[in-house]
Amino acid sequence: MALPLQKPIEHEVPVELKPQVRTEAEADTVQHTSHRGEGMKHIKKYHKMELSTDEGGLLIEGPVSSEHLATLEFHEGLNAFRPARKQKDALVEIAKLPEGRIIIARKDDLVVGYVTFLHPDPMESWSDFEMEDLIELGAIEIAAPYRNQGVSKALLKVAFMDPFMENYIVFTTEYYWHWDLKGTGLDIWEYRKVMEKMMGSAGLKWEATDDPEICAHPANCLMVRIGKNVPMESVQKFDRLRMRHRYMY
Ligand SMILES: CC(C)(COP(=O)(O)OP(=O)(O)OC[C@H]1O[C@@H](n2cnc3c(N)ncnc32)[C@H](O)[C@@H]1OP(=O)(O)O)[C@@H](O)C(=O)NCCC(=O)NCCS
Repeated sequence: MALPLQKPIEHEVPVELKPQVRTEAEADTVQHTSHRGEGMKHIKKYHKMELSTDEGGLLIEGPVSSEHLATLEFHEGLNAFRPARKQKDALVEIAKLPEGRIIIARKDDLVVGYVTFLHPDPMESWSDFEMEDLIELGAIEIAAPYRNQGVSKALLKVAFMDPFMENYIVFTTEYYWHWDLKGTGLDIWEYRKVMEKMMGSAGLKWEATDDPEICAHPANCLMVRIGKNVPMESVQKFDRLRMRHRYMY
């Protein structure tokens, strides 16, 4: 059963949920200059909220610093993409990137869910224009006992509490072969519906694309959110990325 999201917390968290270290991200605002050279400063502002689940209260927080993340344990069920320990290492590295953002759900010191945002992989065509203001929602995962209780929606809610997200085009490429069909017992189209509801809660909407991998199966999709401050030039560049062979203006 999905539990209602609770009121976001701006400053105080209960004592038992307080981080053991004061994180870089908590020290108000963190600024990074991108490695891409055009000088966009990726400003990350930490937010948090609490969420009740059948397994107890969770703290949803981020963007978290790599130092903070390194002090936490990862639930062994966070293994949809690689073993939990390796996934933790990957997330610690992403948190170090100028544009990298990790939002986590944790029960005390145990991470039970996360979402990642970073520039698209240089090996992928989505990175062809090296757009400073294009970030990919790379992965979102919730440990099985905490699923279907609003945790992923809460992660996205906290992620978009940061007004700086309005400076980005955020996209996600959804391939059904990445989905945990076995673990959830959902069929492909039911799972696609979950993805649409989850991403839709944060304003990511289906967009047409002629990307061959996405076109390889009708359940695959591209979902996009264009921030309010994104210039038209960037929107047009992204249109050229998603429609390589024809334009739909
Ligand atoms: C996909 C996943 C992230 C969803 O996380 P979650 O915390 O369970 O999602 P939420 O509880 O926030 O639910 C989002 C919506 O989907 C619905 N939903 C979630 N799980 C569902 C299920 N098993 N059956 C039916 N509906 C479901 C919720 O009711 C909610 O709908 P609503 O907006 O109408 O309330 C989670 O199942 C997961 O970690 N899967 C493995 C990794 C993965 O596939 N990631 C996506 C690719 S990167």
